[in-house]
Amino acid sequence: MSAPIVVLTGAGISKESGLHTFRDADGIWATVRIEDVATPEAFARNPERVQEFYNVRRRGLLNPNIQPNAAHRALARLEAEWPGEVLLVTQNIDDLHERAGSRKLRHIHGELLKARCAGCGDVRECRGDLAVSMTCGSCGKAGGLRPHVVWFGEMPFDLDTVYEALAGCGTFLSIGTSGNVYPAAGFVAEARANGAHTVELNLEPSEGRSLFHEAEHGPATEIVPAYVDKLLKTLR
Ligand code: APR
Repeated sequence: MSAPIVVLTGAGISKESGLHTFRDADGIWATVRIEDVATPEAFARNPERVQEFYNVRRRGLLNPNIQPNAAHRALARLEAEWPGEVLLVTQNIDDLHERAGSRKLRHIHGELLKARCAGCGDVRECRGDLAVSMTCGSCGKAGGLRPHVVWFGEMPFDLDTVYEALAGCGTFLSIGTSGNVYPAAGFVAEARANGAHTVELNLEPSEGRSLFHEAEHGPATEIVPAYVDKLLKTLR
């Protein structure tokens, strides 16, 4: 059995599929302010604005031109062919990892194609626009439906599972993330402290650059398949 691998992905892995990152020059946070669309306070103040922000992104994700790329597919191959555990932890709310075939996957910042009722907690698939006036299909109350995403100031999902995996992994890969947002930005330090070999695959050095034992810089569709090939070759 080979040592477990934990992979963390961020917006950079979906960039070449046609989705925007957040903090690049052409990123989402260059056009809207976090405090207007991605906090519980923003939703309380102006729910229509917040719903519209996510409605536009949901429509964009469902555009048939947006498809998984070679980096997403390489990670699905790693999960299928690596003889040990592979846990994929993504900060992305898109579904491109699933569509590429990844199965052991945790969306710590939630999922754009799901809605949650703030009243009863029901979570269900959502592929159309959400509106403030809509009623929950479970409790029947109006006004509580929101995107099933984690806003700034809210607790990410599945952290117990992630920290448990970080404590036992032999390799930690960080892909397409700038390392600005915690707790995800702290996973490399956690993995390293537990003895893992830490690897960054990103277009440019991230905020956490000094914590990686190894780094490849370039577009995800090139460096991720190449690194997965390298890992799988160690088995032969
Ligand atoms: N290939 C690889 N990396 C890329 C590519 C590419 N083609 N294009 C951009 N990148 C890199 C950028 O250099 C940057 O370091 O991806 C990183 C994207 O960083 P961010 O935009 O900050 O995205 P991310 O790290 O996922 O953001 C974390 O912030 O606002 C939130 O909730 C949002 O989950 C998100 C979190």
